Amino acid sequence: MDNLIGLVNRIQRACTALGDHGGEGAVQSLWESLPSVVVVGGQSSGKSSVLESIVGRDFLPRGSGIVTRRPLVLQLHKTDERSEYAEFLHMPKKRFTDFAAVRKEISDETDRITGRTKQISNVPIHLSVYSSNVVNLTLIDLPGLTKIAVDGQSDSIVGDIENMVRSYIEKPNSIILAVSPANQDIATSDAIKIAREVDPQGERTFGVLTKLDLMDKGTNALDVLEGRSYRLQHPWVGVVNRSQQDINKNVDMIAARRRERDYFHQSADYGHLSSRMGSEYLGKLLSKHLEAFIKARIPSIQAMINKQIDELESELNQIGRPLANDAGAQLYSILELCRTFDHIFKDHLDGIRPGGEK
Ligand code: GDP
Ligand code: NA
Ligand code: MG
Repeated sequence: MDNLIGLVNRIQRACTALGDHGGEGAVQSLWESLPSVVVVGGQSSGKSSVLESIVGRDFLPRGSGIVTRRPLVLQLHKTDERSEYAEFLHMPKKRFTDFAAVRKEISDETDRITGRTKQISNVPIHLSVYSSNVVNLTLIDLPGLTKIAVDGQSDSIVGDIENMVRSYIEKPNSIILAVSPANQDIATSDAIKIAREVDPQGERTFGVLTKLDLMDKGTNALDVLEGRSYRLQHPWVGVVNRSQQDINKNVDMIAARRRERDYFHQSADYGHLSSRMGSEYLGKLLSKHLEAFIKARIPSIQAMINKQIDELESELNQIGRPLANDAGAQLYSILELCRTFDHIFKDHLDGIRPGGEK
C-alpha cells in the first residue's frame, strides 16, 4: 500500500500534467482538495533556506533581494533507492542528479517567464525530488512579501505578491509555514500578519523562527519560541540556516545541519528546547502533521473524487461515444484517473478501519 502522502503526491502530479491539456475545472477542484505546506514570509526572511534544510540538499536559488519570483511546487518522495534525483514537470524526460544544475534550471525557468527582471509570475514551477533522505511532503516556496517596489518593478508588485501568497494560504487544506527572522520584532512579522488573516486561531500555521544566530548579544527569542509573544496551536520551531557567507564559502548541508544541532545543544538559552528545534525536527513534524491531516480528510477527498466521476460521466454522455475529439479523450483519461484513485482510497480506508490496522 502506498503511503498516504505519496498517494496524494501522485494525484497532484497527475492533476498538474492533465491541467496543461484542458479539463481545468475538474482538475482544479481536485487539486484544491489536496493538502500541501506553503512557505510564507518577508523577503529574505530565510524561506528558501528553510526549505533546503528540510530537503537536506542545496538546490534553491537564495540570497538577498527578490530571488524567488515564481511559485515553486516541490514534491518530496521518499524512496528506498540510494540514488537521489530531481525532475521538473516542464522537462519530463530529464533526470537531474546534480543539484547545482537543478538550481540553475529553476533560475533559468524563472527567467523564461519573467525575463531577467525583478518581475514576478503566478505560473508555478513543479519540481519533484526522489531520495531516501527526505520525508514525503509537498512544499510550496513563494516570492517574499515586501513593502516597496524596487527599481524595475511596477508599483503593483507589493499587492501582487500579497495576493499570490493569500491565494495559496487561504485554502483550508494548506498548512502554513510562517517564516519570521529572529533579528526583527515578531510584532512586525509579515508572515504572522498574513497567516493570521486566513487562520486566526493558528490551527494550521507553524511558526518558524530563523536567524537565531543573528540576534543582538544579550537577547534571546524565548518569548517567541515558548509561545508567549504570539500563540499558535502548534509549537514554534527555531532554526539556524546558513549565512550568506556560508553560502559563498560553499558550506555543505551536512556541515550546516551538524552546526545547527550543536548550536541548540550548546546554547545556554535554548538547550532545554534542543530536541524540538532545528530543520530536521521541523521536517519530521511537518510530515507527521501532513499525514494526520490527510487521514482526517480522506472521506472528503473521496467525496470530491466521486463528484468528479459523476460530473465527468455526464459530460462524456453528452459528448457521446466513441470519443472522436481530443476534449473527449482528455475527459476520459481524467475520469479513469479519478476511478483509480477512488479504488486506492477505498482500499486504504478498508485498511485503517478498526480491526484492520494499516
Ligand atoms: P528568502 O528570500 O526568504 O527565500 O530568504 P533566503 O533563504 O534566500 O535567505 C536570505 C539570506 O538570509 C541569505 O543570504 C541566507 O544565507 C540568509 N539566512 C537565512 N537564514 C539564515 C539564518 O538562520 N542565519 C543566518 N546567519 N543567515 C540566514
Ligand atoms: Na531572498
Ligand atoms: Mg526565496
